[in-house]
Amino acid sequence: MKYKIFLLAGVLACSSAFAAEKPADPKKQTSWNLYVDSKEAYTMKKEQGDKVLFIDIRDPIEIMFTGFTDVVDVNIPFKLSTPSQWHKPPKQVFKMTTNPDFESLVAKALKDRGLDKSAPIILMCRSGGTRGAPSSKMLEGKGYKNVYVVTDGFEGGKIKKGEKKNWRLKNGWKNANLPWSYKLNKEKMFFRTAELDQKMALISASKQTIGKFAKTLKGELKKAVKEGGLTNAISVCSKKATPIAQDISKQQGLTIKRVSIKNRNPANVPTEWQRKVLEDFALKHAKGADLKKMAYAQIVETDGKKQFRFVKAIPTGKLCLKCHAEKIDAKVEAKLAELYPDDKARGFKQGDLRGAFVVTKDLN
Ligand code: HEC
Repeated sequence: MKYKIFLLAGVLACSSAFAAEKPADPKKQTSWNLYVDSKEAYTMKKEQGDKVLFIDIRDPIEIMFTGFTDVVDVNIPFKLSTPSQWHKPPKQVFKMTTNPDFESLVAKALKDRGLDKSAPIILMCRSGGTRGAPSSKMLEGKGYKNVYVVTDGFEGGKIKKGEKKNWRLKNGWKNANLPWSYKLNKEKMFFRTAELDQKMALISASKQTIGKFAKTLKGELKKAVKEGGLTNAISVCSKKATPIAQDISKQQGLTIKRVSIKNRNPANVPTEWQRKVLEDFALKHAKGADLKKMAYAQIVETDGKKQFRFVKAIPTGKLCLKCHAEKIDAKVEAKLAELYPDDKARGFKQGDLRGAFVVTKDLN
């Protein structure tokens, strides 16, 4: 009898140990659907030890001022505070910038410990709200098999009513009295480098430059259609797209262009590395990832020369179909045949990956 009770307790403990409820908010859900609360994360680490990689994804400065637990294996921030910029309203906080090295650092942390991508990984942030599940998206499509997010975080959620309204006392690691300290473990902390700051600044500049380029192109396109129809717009596009790119590149000190595996202008054939990025985008898109948020950023060193590279996916919108779909107006077809005898940029459907913006900058 005793044995039976023990067994039952064991089964209950196991089944509840690593299975917090799936959050109702889609923003807090992940493609792995593996959720734990902070107590379960603690148990998991106690029971499985070095077989689990437990990552604190908060900003290291946030950790310095609010505390740390040595139960964590490593600090790999998902978002880094950018104190020179303000968050867009209505949030009244400094801007937080995504750490572009997040995934590669997770891969390295596993490797350093002799683990592979099938090992359970636990991602934990302040309250399980805005960083946990979004950080897991950076690991999607890269072979990770068991990615858990902690639903209540280190500080827990806010109390909604009463005298202590908005205090983080609802749940979470600290409120569960789990091990906590204001002494950080240097070996486990993330060190922000000048190179990473440079990369983040270049990503931000690239996004702005792409925004400007896209807006100018679309503006010109719409204007040309209005003034002289689609065939006129084709002439305008063919004459203006490159000079606009060159103009904006000069203004911003970056090189911007558009590329596509199915290109119209022969000048827009992707290079080998760009093709690889585009193929990777297509693969992720086929698996359901959102093209609007798809981007690649890297500083690459070849023969002692460093180059910054940023690529952003271009989805096919409704307007685009008029000149890039399989079936198009006969006059449009004739004009395209005249200007682009080797046109490959046809057969697109709405929502397809049309191509990408590519920004590069030589750094030395
Ligand atoms: C009026 C016809 C027309 C429409 C509408 C149109 N395009 Fe194009 N597109 C062109 C032409 C012409 C080129 C070649 C421009 C050049 O010579 O640089 C082109 C080139 C491109 C390229 C560069 C790669 C390549 O194939 O050479 C991309 C990317 C692209 N278009 C995306 C889009 C998207 C996205 C839309 C919808 C927002 C769109 N286009 C709408 C005519 C059009």
